[in-house]
Amino acid sequence: MGNQAKLSASGNDYDFPVLKGSVGPDVVDIRKMYGQTGMFTFDPGFTSTASCESALTYIDGDEGVLLHRGYPIGQLAENSSFMEVSYLLLNGELPDADELSNFEFTISRHTMLHEQLLQFYRGFRRDAHPMAVMCGVVGALSAFYHDSTDISDPQHRKISSHRLIAKMPTIAAAAYKYAIGQPFLYPDNSLSYTGNFLRMTFGVPAEPYELHPAVEKAMDRIFILHADHEQNASTSTVRLAGSSGANPFACIAAGIACLWGPAHGGANEAALNMLKEIGTPDKIPHYIERAKDKNDPFRLMGFGHRVYKNYDPRATVMQTTVREVFDALKVTDPLFETALRLEEIALNDPYFVEKKLFPNVDFYSGIILSAIGFPTTMFTVLFALARTVGWVAQWNEMISDPGQKIGRPRQLYTGPTQRDYIPVDQR
Ligand code: CMC
Repeated sequence: MGNQAKLSASGNDYDFPVLKGSVGPDVVDIRKMYGQTGMFTFDPGFTSTASCESALTYIDGDEGVLLHRGYPIGQLAENSSFMEVSYLLLNGELPDADELSNFEFTISRHTMLHEQLLQFYRGFRRDAHPMAVMCGVVGALSAFYHDSTDISDPQHRKISSHRLIAKMPTIAAAAYKYAIGQPFLYPDNSLSYTGNFLRMTFGVPAEPYELHPAVEKAMDRIFILHADHEQNASTSTVRLAGSSGANPFACIAAGIACLWGPAHGGANEAALNMLKEIGTPDKIPHYIERAKDKNDPFRLMGFGHRVYKNYDPRATVMQTTVREVFDALKVTDPLFETALRLEEIALNDPYFVEKKLFPNVDFYSGIILSAIGFPTTMFTVLFALARTVGWVAQWNEMISDPGQKIGRPRQLYTGPTQRDYIPVDQR
């Protein structure tokens, strides 16, 4: 018999199995707890609860480690491509050369949108936030691809996964084009996944678009850094939505909605807005004091993480990438100096040291994205684009699990106990 965890409650002792992962903390298996004890556990923010079993991504927050299928994020960001990482996440192993080119070819065959779907954009106000457009248009995909929504059929799941990964750049670029009043560009499948996205975003039909190789590489790396991140809020949302058997397009739309929040994917937009508000390094101490003040809702955006209690390894790569993009484009941004100084001051401040608050992936990403030419409102859209592969890989993993059940948390009820209805004239 393996390890057991003991619970003593109301004069009784109970044993629960302790499960071991390949690495990381053991977990106490409490699936039978309610049946045996009549009690639930209480963990509203899932701070101590593993919601599923997964073989995709591993994070050691204390050490600042992030592995996809075992491979460190730093190695993937340095040597791999977003398409290769996507294959890895979906299939479990790195592809050989043929597998990679077949995968790239397959994805490139699905980049176009149904022509009618483009009409949807015209229903939105021009000043709509592109994340609002993303929620709507991605959700609408389920109205167009009926031939791939039978989730019990692995082939349907595969095609819908490929469609989502392939169409996301086209959908995101169209959201941008619509906002600025330029014509939509159709995909050009002779380009790389990332090159095609940049062209659809920044190109115009009137003239050829020249891809900047260093920008294409930096963008691809940013996509790699955002590809998956274990059971974060949006991934858990996708899993929960999918656990009821909802179709994958609807599930990914749910993930996008969750990602939008400033505590999650919306932090990249909020972080750059914050740096703009701070402006010059001399204003930093004032904002540091505000961040520490419990009565002030201001927080250092792009700082802190539920899991990382060390430097987010993605932030390290982001910081290097800022310099590469600046060199390639021969630009600079004084906000980068402000960000570096802010990081330095915060990392030497006892408040941030004691609470183990470090820069996360969003702290530097906005500086790169704005150097490339994206408005802040597009930042979270780019996150959604890249995270789609993680979402579909996690969704597929869940649906393929024979033990999968609908997600149905319980609660600690604190409302009124049963009482009788009183007619309105007697209240
Ligand atoms: N600035 C100032 N104080 C902070 C910050 C911050 N950015 N983050 C956490 N704290 C404090 C917080 O007030 C709390 O203090 P106390 O223990 O005295 O009450 C302590 O640190 C722990 O914070 P928490 O809110 O209990 O931690 P959490 O795990 O619930 O929240 C977080 C994690 C990421 C939501 C939070 O750190 C935060 O709001 N950061 C800013 C937003 C951000 O950058 N989000 C992006 C996360 S990475 C990308 C992604 O997931 O999409």
